[in-house]
Amino acid sequence: YKRITTKSLIEMKSNGEKISMLTAYDFTMAKIVDTAGVDVILVGDSASNVMAGHETTLPITLDQMIYHASSVVRAVERALVVVDLPFGSYQSDPKEALRSAIRIMKESGGHAVKLEGGKEIKESIKKILNAGIPVMGHLGLTPQSIYKFGTYSVRAKEEEEAEKLIEDAKLLEKIGCFGIVLEKIPADLAQKVAESISIPVIGIGAGGGVDGQVLVIHDMLGMNNEFSPRFLRRYLDLYNQMTSAIGKYVTDVKSRDFPNAGEQY
Ligand code: KIV
Ligand code: NA
Repeated sequence: YKRITTKSLIEMKSNGEKISMLTAYDFTMAKIVDTAGVDVILVGDSASNVMAGHETTLPITLDQMIYHASSVVRAVERALVVVDLPFGSYQSDPKEALRSAIRIMKESGGHAVKLEGGKEIKESIKKILNAGIPVMGHLGLTPQSIYKFGTYSVRAKEEEEAEKLIEDAKLLEKIGCFGIVLEKIPADLAQKVAESISIPVIGIGAGGGVDGQVLVIHDMLGMNNEFSPRFLRRYLDLYNQMTSAIGKYVTDVKSRDFPNAGEQY
């Protein structure tokens, strides 16, 4: 395989080739996602929800993100691996942000970091970029700010928030980010952002007018029965398939069907 780089993604945008991105948090899943040809693997802080069972992304730590990211990196041969900086590891000052980003790069072997926010974290992003670490932005519904928003509903429906989002996207491009995730905003706004900057815009719940799509792997495989926002397309029904397979195993053990004569030494 030819490895995907931040440069390849920018080229894909200029050639009009859409970018595919999915999350992964462990070796086995990352191997499958990479083999299937996904361009970008995000070690998202959504691990806090889907791996650890927390209500929000806030509790996950930098050490835990590094553990997930290093497991993913060991599996990946082609995709670009982007790692989320978790809540609390970059907001207080640019030096701490850089220290956190350096730990991720050194200890996990990931290829880039992602931070939530625009203007407010401009100096931190610049500091990380100056150290030679590629940065992806994340605007719109930024889950680390859930207690500020109060709900997980669509962001930037009003003029003022939409204007700020456009300005933030332009700022992120100007200071040198290689891409931006836009989460849960109106499709028209997302398309407008994608058309007004030359770095790739990857959407989740942001419509088809952007340069690529990202989903949480557990959600798109249907492993999570409870979470079904409009933007989610389920490609499998793994929750039910796995429950019935495991139920069959329980039945086979109880009934002494498993193991049979050929399944022992
Ligand atoms: O953590 C995550 O999974 C993300 C994506 C939803 C973009 O940030
Ligand atoms: Na995230």
